[in-house]
Amino acid sequence: MKQQTLLLGQTLNFNGNPLEESWEDTVSIDSSGGVLIEDGHIRAVGNGAELRKAHPLAQVTDYADALICPGFVDAHVHYPQTAIIASWGKRLIDWLNLYTFPEEMRLADPAYATEIAGRYLDLTLAHGTTTVCSFATITPQSVDAIFEAAALRGQRIVAGKTCMDRNAPDGLCDTAQSAYDDSKALIERWQGKGRAGYAITPRFTPTSTPDQLAALGALWAEHPDCLMQTHLSEQLDEIAWVRELVPQARDYLDTYEEHGLIGARAVYGHAIHLTPRESDRISETGAALVHCPTSNTFIGSGLFDMAGLAARRIPIGLATDTGGGSSFSMLRTMAAAYEIGQLRGAPLHAAQLIWLATAGSARSLHLHEKIGTLNAGFEADITILDLASTPAIAQRASNAQNIWDMVFATLMMGDDRAIKDVWVAGQRRV
Ligand code: GUN
Ligand code: ZN
Repeated sequence: MKQQTLLLGQTLNFNGNPLEESWEDTVSIDSSGGVLIEDGHIRAVGNGAELRKAHPLAQVTDYADALICPGFVDAHVHYPQTAIIASWGKRLIDWLNLYTFPEEMRLADPAYATEIAGRYLDLTLAHGTTTVCSFATITPQSVDAIFEAAALRGQRIVAGKTCMDRNAPDGLCDTAQSAYDDSKALIERWQGKGRAGYAITPRFTPTSTPDQLAALGALWAEHPDCLMQTHLSEQLDEIAWVRELVPQARDYLDTYEEHGLIGARAVYGHAIHLTPRESDRISETGAALVHCPTSNTFIGSGLFDMAGLAARRIPIGLATDTGGGSSFSMLRTMAAAYEIGQLRGAPLHAAQLIWLATAGSARSLHLHEKIGTLNAGFEADITILDLASTPAIAQRASNAQNIWDMVFATLMMGDDRAIKDVWVAGQRRV
């Protein structure tokens, strides 16, 4: 008989999208829940005592009143920017030129890329993140490095080679043809291998010529099972630059659309300053947007319209955007999403925040039938949250009105000390 593991605690259950329906109808917490794991997958979720009775040979870990959640899914990151996170004083374009591009050049050394990829995944696992969707740098070795590091840790991952053929240092530029050829070879090497998925990755219109965008649009048409990730409408200066570079385009999104870089498997990071036509097209095509709140305040980009875009049923994920974002933590990211909601007059409930960081992000990456929810048959990526992890949180938790009030305190004030355990494909990792 196969080894079974039973986790007992308070389990988080999803039954719909709390941004589109009421959170009370779609998210619940079972105070005496259990999750049964076998063969890297969740076999059953239900009442802890009943599962224990039905599976007496299962190895039990009792987390008492800690919260058993799906592992966090960070839907937009740049692992190569790990070492320059929290760099001071610049807005997007200057920040890229001064901090980001020089660091990304360093990853041309495959040994350094391997070191950073491992360091990044260890840091994020310690923060409860079990899956990321990452940009690499322009070198294929930097893509291999993150896929290999994830495979070593048994993690589900999405990544892609960042393509740039203008407005970047020579050492960071490819060409339309080499971007196509290298990305194609990487798709053949990684797409669907183990727990890996490939995202075709033009960085953004300012650093890709129309020829390169067209080549990557053609590549995506040949590999429609891949995701396509890029940046869209993050800062006003960036949007003005795109208008200068492509004056005939109707708007920023059109610079992608005209090359076939739009569709249900498109994932656009930021998307803050959208025109009505852009949000209409995103909504019609089923493309996903990724909200990166710590980045949007840190680089001074603006306030994402979560309520307006979610009301249009656009799939939305949540992300740190490391290293534009100022934290590796999805807890800190949920807190920042709450703060941005407040600044827009639309505060998110704790149930909505934690759904965004798990099932919502998984949905944006088309992984919602594999990860992001504690469901039988899903992969057993699970994060255990201690709801009283510091004296400051414990005193607030002891004064909580109800379980959601208690969870909210940890989402707002928690850090890696709140991560009691992390399970990846049914193995305990942290
Ligand atoms: N736009 C293009 N590249 C980047 C990047 O690396 N980070 C952020 N935040 N925005 C970008
Ligand atoms: Zn980004």
